[in-house]
Amino acid sequence: MRDLVSITTEPPGPPAELIFGDWYPALRSSELRLGKMTTALLLGVPLVLGRKRDGKIFAMRDLCPHRGIPLSAGWFDGEQVQCKYHGWKFEPCTGQCSEIPSLTRHETLDPGRIFAAAYPCEERDGYAWVYLPEAGTGRSLGTLPEVPELPKFSQRYRSAHLVADLPCNVDHGIIGLMDPAHGPFVHQAWWWRSRASIHEKEKHFEPIEDSANAGRNAGFRMSSHAPSANSAPYKLLGVYGEPITTTIDFVLPNRRYETIRAGAKWFSSLTTITPVTPSTCRIDVIAAWNVFYRVPFVTPIAKFFGVRFVRQDQETMIEQAQGLRYHPGLMLIDDADKPAKWYFALKQARLKGTGEHPLAGPVTLYWRS
Ligand code: FES
Ligand SMILES: [Fe+2]
Repeated sequence: MRDLVSITTEPPGPPAELIFGDWYPALRSSELRLGKMTTALLLGVPLVLGRKRDGKIFAMRDLCPHRGIPLSAGWFDGEQVQCKYHGWKFEPCTGQCSEIPSLTRHETLDPGRIFAAAYPCEERDGYAWVYLPEAGTGRSLGTLPEVPELPKFSQRYRSAHLVADLPCNVDHGIIGLMDPAHGPFVHQAWWWRSRASIHEKEKHFEPIEDSANAGRNAGFRMSSHAPSANSAPYKLLGVYGEPITTTIDFVLPNRRYETIRAGAKWFSSLTTITPVTPSTCRIDVIAAWNVFYRVPFVTPIAKFFGVRFVRQDQETMIEQAQGLRYHPGLMLIDDADKPAKWYFALKQARLKGTGEHPLAGPVTLYWRS
């Protein structure tokens, strides 16, 4: 489900500062087949990924430490990655060099002391998540934060995912994701809501502190509430009569979790905006639910709605990117753009390591959408 609309080759818009030292989804882990190498670009870092014979997946920087040719140009036999240029071999999970074919008995160089960059890489929810360390971290990364995972609330569930490239930097992708005021204009459709249904909203927010991780995954929560009466998807949940609670969390660096629960029924999604380069990004949505579990075709139907929805955002951002190439000044207004202001404040606090949080406590925002 890639490239719903293909990205133009126009010059890129302004870059964003990137947050290293966290987990990002690189690609669908089903793309990683035994003995095959696959490439990806993540935060501007070229990666080569693959799956070893024992099933373990790996992600290395796609550059040979010898003379810089992409390792993906070489060979992978299910155990070792071998460079195409001079045949150096590497164990891909650790990056450790195991063989330098040109060495003779006259040389004392120990290949085992040479490492290609290999990054922590884990499978969750069908994605290969890669931890990209901050520059200069070296090989001992210490305790890593938990690998992000979609919350699920029962043993059995259905799930779907979708992905789309966005031609703007990660900041525009993220503030587009949390922007409430575009809904009635970008997403007007019979199954969602019409522009005529715009009305005043009152939404309650609270800070999410992350003291366990020194604030690195701080964010904010749109507190539990009965969802908008004018949103058809909630009606589709078929949960009349049950109290519905919804929470939407944004946490750094790029994650939006939405959970809808009504009695034993639930719907959960994790949306991430991942920098591909400093000036482009990608949106991935993973969703799971146990509603209508026994009804066939629910997955394709849900996927259709999700694809339509993301495509509308994507098409709008492609148009926006045309304007952003001219580096316009931008405006963030209260209250509709307040979450975007919080995002920028949280990001700066994280980059500078100040631990400051823009929300001192619960806040109520008002807007019309
Ligand atoms: S460039 Fe890779 S082995 Fe020489
Ligand atoms: Fe949207």
